[in-house]
Amino acid sequence: MLTPRQQHCLKGIGIQQWVGRSAGKPALEVVPAVESIGVRTEEITRQDRQEIPVVEAPAPPKLDTWDNITRSIHQCEACELSQNCTQKVPGVGSQQAGLMIIGEGPGHEEDLRGEPFVGRSGQLLDKMLLAIGLSRSQVFITNIVKCRPPNNRDPHSNEVQACESFLQAQIKHIAPRVILAVGRISAHHLLNSTSPVGKLIDQVHQLPGSDIPLKVTYHPAYLLRNPSAKSIVWNDMKILHKMLGL
Ligand code: URA
Repeated sequence: MLTPRQQHCLKGIGIQQWVGRSAGKPALEVVPAVESIGVRTEEITRQDRQEIPVVEAPAPPKLDTWDNITRSIHQCEACELSQNCTQKVPGVGSQQAGLMIIGEGPGHEEDLRGEPFVGRSGQLLDKMLLAIGLSRSQVFITNIVKCRPPNNRDPHSNEVQACESFLQAQIKHIAPRVILAVGRISAHHLLNSTSPVGKLIDQVHQLPGSDIPLKVTYHPAYLLRNPSAKSIVWNDMKILHKMLGL
């Protein structure tokens, strides 16, 4: 069955539509125009008899267990980032974590070590957690994208999209009591917002489509460049402390 667009194109080059046997007519009605563009009737008839295989789209990865999620992340080749990174960085911490921390994407150190937030930003994040009595093994830390964007550029929207099902599966499996989005890329993606981080910090949100409370805070890399924002982040950590009932 031809689509209206295909029918239109055929008409445009002067070819009538083929009519099936069921309509009580010959299988093929070839108008002279076909021969005039250099296609012989027998060729068309031969092609019509060929068995043309249907090429199936690859099955989406099975993300029903933690092992499957992690294996699928390691095997993923859905976007260009996978071609250039040293290794995938699925996440680190406890599958039973009450707090899930979501950053932007692995940097240089994280790419080399296969663990999120292990560079200078990560050391600051560890201190932020310690301030409310948590260690990285008690929370779960991951990123919006699991492969390092080259030169630490922002991940492109198709790259974020390619990783989306992994992040959603991780959130579903862990079912955290609270999510902490660190930095602009994470906050914007998770909240489907373009508001400045400075504004999003002002209230506790909810992860869209769920009842999980979501707090936004500045990225530790931003704090390293702007130490004056540390008091705001300290306040955010106190809010998290309360939310988690620690
Ligand atoms: N910045 C991030 O957003 N994530 C990391 O894992 C490291 C740095």
